[in-house]
Amino acid sequence: MIAETSDCRDFLKIKSSQEWLSMALSNFDAFLVDHAACERKASAMCMSFVVRYPDHTELLDTMIRLAREELEHFHEVYHIMGQRGLKLGADVKDDYVNQLVSLSRTGRKERLMDRLVISGIVEARGCERFYMIAEALKEVDPPLAGFYDELARSERRHHTFFIELAQKIFPKEDVSKRVEELLNAEATIIQELPLRPILH
Ligand SMILES: [Fe+2]
Ligand SMILES: [Fe+2]
Repeated sequence: MIAETSDCRDFLKIKSSQEWLSMALSNFDAFLVDHAACERKASAMCMSFVVRYPDHTELLDTMIRLAREELEHFHEVYHIMGQRGLKLGADVKDDYVNQLVSLSRTGRKERLMDRLVISGIVEARGCERFYMIAEALKEVDPPLAGFYDELARSERRHHTFFIELAQKIFPKEDVSKRVEELLNAEATIIQELPLRPILH
């Protein structure tokens, strides 16, 4: 049974398009190669918090756990790729994430807040899109639909962890203001990206 998408979708300013879904589904092998890369980068990004902010002990345990979970997702997608005879792709830049990260402010505290909020937004978008994939595949490929449903649930938890960590470290009203600004920016970025069979 496919879970509700409402919390991720309510958080984001705009819904992903059906054109994106059709593009991903009709080029699913290409989508999987990109998806694997996204999970690998998500794991590395969580570890980058550990490397950059060893003094922020309130986030270390969560970040190490999230890094392991994302690495596990990478491993699972890698196995699905193997079943289809697919190979990992070259490391390509992620325009969506890079554009968002470029909006981070430069002060150490501000940068940490922005990185946490941006990560929370990226997780929400992943959650929304994995649910869309799960919903679309539930009749045609129930095991794969189940896999994407599980992933969506996991990314939804990650989304919550990032936003809650930001709220734990910084004043809630400052975080809310920044969430609003960065969500508006994300809505523009996701709409302007070219339509390709990739996660973002
Ligand atoms: Fe993941
Ligand atoms: Fe995640």
